[in-house]
Amino acid sequence: MSLYPKSVQFSLLALLSVSGASMAQTTFTRDNGAPVGDNQNSQTAGANGPVLLQDVQLIQKLQRFDRERIPERVVHARGTGAYGVFTASKDVSDLTRAVVFKPGIETPVFVRFSSVIHGNHSPETLRDPRGFGVKFYTTEGNWDLVGNNLPVFFIRDAIKFPDMVHSLKPAPDTNLQDPNRFFDFFSHQPEATHMLTRVYSDYGTPTSYREMDGNSVHAYKFVNTQGQIHYVKFHWKSLQGQKTLTSKQASAIQAVNFNHLTHDLIGAIKQGKFPQWDLYIQVLTPAQLASLDFDGLDATKIWPNVPETKIGSMQLNRNPDDVFLETEQSALAPSNLVPGIEPSEDKLLQGRLFSYADTQLHRIGTNGLQLPINRARNVVANNNQYGAQNSGSHKGNVNYEPSEHVALAADAQYKYSALPLTGTTQQSRTLKTQNFKQAGDFYRSLSAKEQANLVSNLAGDLGQVKDEGVKYTMTSYFQKADAGYGRAVVAALHLDGARVVALASKLVD
Ligand code: HEM
Repeated sequence: MSLYPKSVQFSLLALLSVSGASMAQTTFTRDNGAPVGDNQNSQTAGANGPVLLQDVQLIQKLQRFDRERIPERVVHARGTGAYGVFTASKDVSDLTRAVVFKPGIETPVFVRFSSVIHGNHSPETLRDPRGFGVKFYTTEGNWDLVGNNLPVFFIRDAIKFPDMVHSLKPAPDTNLQDPNRFFDFFSHQPEATHMLTRVYSDYGTPTSYREMDGNSVHAYKFVNTQGQIHYVKFHWKSLQGQKTLTSKQASAIQAVNFNHLTHDLIGAIKQGKFPQWDLYIQVLTPAQLASLDFDGLDATKIWPNVPETKIGSMQLNRNPDDVFLETEQSALAPSNLVPGIEPSEDKLLQGRLFSYADTQLHRIGTNGLQLPINRARNVVANNNQYGAQNSGSHKGNVNYEPSEHVALAADAQYKYSALPLTGTTQQSRTLKTQNFKQAGDFYRSLSAKEQANLVSNLAGDLGQVKDEGVKYTMTSYFQKADAGYGRAVVAALHLDGARVVALASKLVD
């Protein structure tokens, strides 16, 4: 059996025959450019003697091989990337000064889709949220919209993220993912009920990256030239439609091709079937946001009944030439913002603003933003300097600002917007938790078949939990979201329904 699907086999064969037929010979060199005389036989002392340290080609080749890996992403390690273009279609200059949204402007993009929990090369068939990160190379700097396929998240405060990920990752003692561990964690996080309900629906196993929507999850702030603010959520709608797999279908695919998402995206683009998404926004004024009966900046919530407006479209049309150089070394970060787009006060987003750029300093190094995939397409001009692997091009003796000798200065029109504040510093959860309502709304929006799939997917994992208390607490959350949902989980797990109802009655939404 071949490792590659038919379409990939054909293109590999084509590549081989082209290189055999017409390529001019290039002399093989070491990294210093010196020609290599023999790349097949090490230099030895006589016919039977040891290998010589003076074989600089052998030594360099092994040294470079030994260092081929950079740390994989701590989450979202498995991903696949593609290039394309975003075309803005609606005048939103009353909302934002961002140049990327001027109608008709075409902005090159790089997109990285991903799964979250398991490592690079793990099966793409596993249940997981899917990352949908877009890097826009705008004329005023790179803007990264780093979202997911699902519109909400498990938690609403960044301080919980490392614990959540530890519970979801394979256990430290066995290296196996274990529902006992993550449901133990989630039984203390009732706000996760909405996201868990979506992840355990068939949306947790998309058919392909092409047939998947994307969401900002968080609200961001649009800021116009007058400094006025609107809160905005983004939604990429797939023009291929949203398609999902049942767990049975996902298992069947996994048995023959656990890379189905990557195969599909690369194959479609190779065949010229360029996938497309429309970008929609929901917009709220600060007053409208404050009037919601839940916290509108809570990442466990959608904004129901807020109309969506289409503001542009994206097409993906080119595969990377080298997955390591481009996809693996890409560094998408919510802190890569541009004039006109600012972070909201969402506590989860605020943590992400620090975390991504920080992990990338570790993962690809101090000067990782100079790599071709991450470099801004406009001129970068500042006095950040030195550090490992710096390939900058600073000239002259002025590396400070202000100076009488170099015309480099900040421009006040790009100052951050101002936020009015009252109160004291505090450490407390949001007052308007509403942990269960939207989970129930989502459950009721599913067809009977989809509800049955959700319950069976959930029971598959929750059924493995040995701690009865954890099992009952989790089921009480589903019961609180929707009584029918709770009853279905009780039946699937053969639990005591009266005990679940009693626990749920103590919960406050
Ligand atoms: C406080 C909460 C979160 C923290 C601390 C966090 C942290 C991280 C970290 C450290 C990475 C690896 C980045 C890299 O190595 O380049 C990552 C990747 C990613 N995260 Fe998060 N994350 C959080 C929540 C979220 C949320 C809510 C979303 C979706 C809206 C999300 C979407 C992604 C995506 C799409 C990637 C992969 C980016 C890529 O393709 O390179 N994360 N996250």
